[in-house]
Amino acid sequence: MSYPYQIKSLEQYYEQYEKSVQDPEGFWSEIASHFVWRKKWDKVLEWNFEEPRVEWFKGAKLNITENCLDRHLADKGEQPALMWEPNDPENHHRVFTYNRLYEHVCKFCHVLANNGVKKGDRVLIYMPMIPRLAIAVLACARIGAIHSVVFGGFSAQSISDRLRDARAEFIITSDGAFRGQKDIPLKSIIDDALIGVDFVKKVIVATRTRIPVSMLKGRDVWWEDEFEKVETLGLSDFPAVEMDAEDPLFILYTSGSTGKPKGVVHTCGGYMVYTNYTFINTFQYQPGDVHFCTADIGWITGHSYIVYGPLSAGATSLMFEGIPTWPDAGRFWSIVQKYNVNILYTAPTAIRSLMSYGKDPLEGKNLSSLRILGTVGEPINEEAWNWYYENIGNKKCPIVDTWWQTETAGILITNLAGVTPAKAGWATLPMPGLQPVLVDEKGNEIEETEASGNLCIKFPWPGILRTTYGDHERCRTAYFSAYPGYYFTGDGALRDANGNYKITGRVDDVLNVSGHRIGTAEVENAINMHAGVVESAVVGYPHDVKGQGIYAYVILSGKHLDEEHTRNDINMTVSRIIGPIAKPDKIQFVTNLPKTRSGKIMRRILRKIAENELGSFGDTSTLLDPGVVEEIVQGKL
Ligand code: PRX
Repeated sequence: MSYPYQIKSLEQYYEQYEKSVQDPEGFWSEIASHFVWRKKWDKVLEWNFEEPRVEWFKGAKLNITENCLDRHLADKGEQPALMWEPNDPENHHRVFTYNRLYEHVCKFCHVLANNGVKKGDRVLIYMPMIPRLAIAVLACARIGAIHSVVFGGFSAQSISDRLRDARAEFIITSDGAFRGQKDIPLKSIIDDALIGVDFVKKVIVATRTRIPVSMLKGRDVWWEDEFEKVETLGLSDFPAVEMDAEDPLFILYTSGSTGKPKGVVHTCGGYMVYTNYTFINTFQYQPGDVHFCTADIGWITGHSYIVYGPLSAGATSLMFEGIPTWPDAGRFWSIVQKYNVNILYTAPTAIRSLMSYGKDPLEGKNLSSLRILGTVGEPINEEAWNWYYENIGNKKCPIVDTWWQTETAGILITNLAGVTPAKAGWATLPMPGLQPVLVDEKGNEIEETEASGNLCIKFPWPGILRTTYGDHERCRTAYFSAYPGYYFTGDGALRDANGNYKITGRVDDVLNVSGHRIGTAEVENAINMHAGVVESAVVGYPHDVKGQGIYAYVILSGKHLDEEHTRNDINMTVSRIIGPIAKPDKIQFVTNLPKTRSGKIMRRILRKIAENELGSFGDTSTLLDPGVVEEIVQGKL
């Protein structure tokens, strides 16, 4: 099977782009016609960004797993759908053909049904990167339950917040997770998260590390036992539950500029069409290619480009349990060689980290199977881009710099591998169907081609978020109110004379640490939970490997003799409240913060100090006490 809607030339890109803007409904309905629908749509699109309300393929019925699994069984049943490389390279890898994956998903649907899971129920998934994670996700989709995957690096408190927000009555987890040399006790973290929660009906626990876990009678069941029951009963096929195109498929929590993460909701029809279209076009996937996306399924990149995008395209997707630097910094390259990876999709932070080990880890590694490289999650600096291009791609693999967000479901701005031109450090051109604009501070669209401004989108694409779970008004204020009539991305961007975009980073109080999105307000709230802290302010600063590091200015109450000790305690508090990913890299103790007379912290100044830009702080006349700034500069870390 080749893909009728795969763009093959620059000329065709412009032609398709033009068509998608002139006739979006015609454009997307043509693409959607290549999927399996139980019932066709009555209307392609209805939308209004003021409410906001976006409905794609209105009235259509489908199940996304019929598109990811069933439709491939006839001609690709024995082709690998999912390949899995374990944390420990000495252990056995696994290959799931489409037939086998289908069988496992169906059986696990029976497990879910036997345990009371129904269409519309929320299921929280907290698992390591093992095939059962993908199986759990797909089984939820098949039964019509709404999955909410929580990344394994989040703390019990974070899980508990998400669980309550989504009111998830079911949890799928495992005893533990292997990550490099570490064992993470997932089930025990879930147990902590469940203290005081009385609405959870079932916790399904898969075995992975076999550390002892507590299993509560009536609530906790083993994945393997439940699976065996299904097999003993001889149950195999599980008919996919019919979903409306606009029924929620999943919730994925992400940080914003307020303290509380938002549950981004994506729906079945639009999400499917958009992730599939962007997968096939960005990576120029060819039948038989091995696609290796190194993200965790706990993030949107894993949802869209390990699971749904590739599988809906009948592709072979490789999933990796471990980390790039264990047992050594050549791990990715060994994997590329072992599986003959053709497409490698990773994050700039991983590239920078691996680059710091020099070329030794590449010694003796055959990377000649690679055809296409990709990056995602943060701006890529030219040095890392060049290193990736020269050493990994051997100067013959195009690099796609894909810009997008949890809220967008799939890639919005990117070059198409080998089809549209790359420009180091630039995401380049919008996907067909996407209408980006730059607006100035007042919300006016900037007409000049060469410009810089805040990046907004003025027309819906099928993957745009539909709401934030349980609080639609929050969705409106967070994304559709800053510039009425537009979806505001929160990013700043440059545009060159050819219409290429370069994303310059967030313009709101959101940090991007190792490609992970973290709200400064969230980190501040966590720091302020520490008993000795009166107040804190968190900003980002440039970090060689992580892209951005977390710099915290903290006011303590009373005397703390041992600063190092207090720093460690604060870090521990943040790990407990959010997770280790949010631990500040630097904590500077201060006696005061620069505030305006109305009590607002002037973060601009704190950012400059953290960035070591001590030359000028701009207008400081509104500061309550200008002396504070000098004191903070003196104590800079
Ligand atoms: O600031 C942009 C940055 O990551 C943010 C989205 O984060 P998240 O929802 O966690 O999704 C990450 C994976 C899609 C964006 O607002 N970002 C993402 N990709 C790029 C990027 N910044 C620059 N270049 C990119 N290619």
